[in-house]
Order: sequence, then C-alpha cells, then structure tokens
Amino acid sequence: MYQLNNFDSREQLDESLADNISKILESSITLKGKASIAVSGGSTPKGFFKALSNKSIDWKKVTITLADERWVDINSDDSNTRLVHENLLVNKAASAKFFHLKQGDELCEETLADLNLAANNALLPLDVVILGMGEDGHTASLFPCSDEIEQGLDVTNINALMKIQPKTAPHQRITFSFAALKESKNVFLHVCGDNKKQVLDQALSTHNIFEMPIRAFLHSDVIDTQIYWAK
Ligand code: 6PG
Repeated sequence: MYQLNNFDSREQLDESLADNISKILESSITLKGKASIAVSGGSTPKGFFKALSNKSIDWKKVTITLADERWVDINSDDSNTRLVHENLLVNKAASAKFFHLKQGDELCEETLADLNLAANNALLPLDVVILGMGEDGHTASLFPCSDEIEQGLDVTNINALMKIQPKTAPHQRITFSFAALKESKNVFLHVCGDNKKQVLDQALSTHNIFEMPIRAFLHSDVIDTQIYWAK
C-alpha cells in the first residue's frame, strides 16, 4: 500500500520530509537509545539532505547508511558515500555515525558476509528507509535488468546485503535486499519531476515486480510506502 503526498515545490517537499524523518529518528532514540536510517543516492535527495542535516536531534545516536552503493572509489563523483558525506553528514548531523557499504577493493563473498554480519548487529531493522526510483522502475540497486533480481526481491532472502550487476546502468553495486528493506516501519519514496510521475503512474497501474521492482513496495500489503513527490 502507499500514500501519495504531493508538494508544490521541491523545497517544500525537502522541508516536510526532513521534519517527518527527524521526528521518527527522535522517537526511535527515545524508545531504544539509538536510530538507524538508510538513504538513497542519485541526484534527487541533495536538498533533502541539507534540510535534514540542520535538524536538532541527538545525531551521535543515529547511524546513517545507504540503501545501495555503486562499487566505486569514495572520491568518485558517482559515489553515494561521498554525496552523503558532503550533503548530509554536515551541519548538526556531522556527529552521526556512518555505516559504509563500500569496504575494500573487491566485493567478494567474504566482504559481503562481514558486511551482512555488521549490518545485522549495527542497524537492522532500519528505523527509516528512503528510496529513490529510476526510470526503469528500479529502487535501491534492485535493477529489473540484473540477473540477481529474483534473489533481490525474494522475501525469504536471508542476506540483507547483496551484490548486483546492472546491465543497463554503470558500476557493480551493493544493495540492501527487499527482504531487509521491508522490515522498516517507515518507508519513504522520494521522487521529483514529471518524468518520474509518469514512471510512478506506470508502477502503480499493474503488479509485475520483476518488471518494475519499486512495485514490491507500492503493492505490498504490509508496507505503507509514503510517496513524496514534487514537480
Ligand atoms: C543509486 C540509487 C538509485 C537512485 C535512483 C534515482 O545509487 O543509483 O540509490 O536507486 O535512487 O536511480 O536516482 P536519481 O535521483 O538520480 O533520479
């Protein structure tokens, strides 16, 4: 299921999403003494990151990670880790912890096993997940074109993190699986622009999740995906 929240401008969306997320993080801290959030990379979330980074919450108790990362050097323009460090782990949020998905040179089985163990200990289930969506209906790095998509969307997948090689997008990726992301009680989809609205309408119109993986979230009976959209 989903709820569509429309905003008149991207700035209003960014502020409203940041307000909402900071309240959720704060209540997780009150309840458990800590909070975890996975954000997405790409071009959409920059303004939201800035807005969230200025919220007054106890950031030292918050662990931030990514829903997915491209396996590139942290200094690369394509690194989501770099994007988050430059735009979210700043201002008041500078004291938050960051859980790195890109660790080491090679994304081998051993690295994945270590990361899965560490993610289970440090941040799962995630208190908040903020997804993006590509024009092919991918979300996180759950790409419809990849050989790993069945495993990525398998609700019985025991691996929270997995390797993905998209065929229509650059870079090998590491991504949280649908099975791990769906455990969050607060799932948001942040999309902007008319093109993405058309993709969203297409995703909402029918149910084949392998054709458009974002549908796994939108049409789930148990996930209440909050869509935030602005022109
Ligand atoms: C990534 C992502 C990905 C992204 C969408 C939307 O690293 O590629 O996390 O899922 O959120 O592709 O990207 P844009 O915001 O650039 O449209």
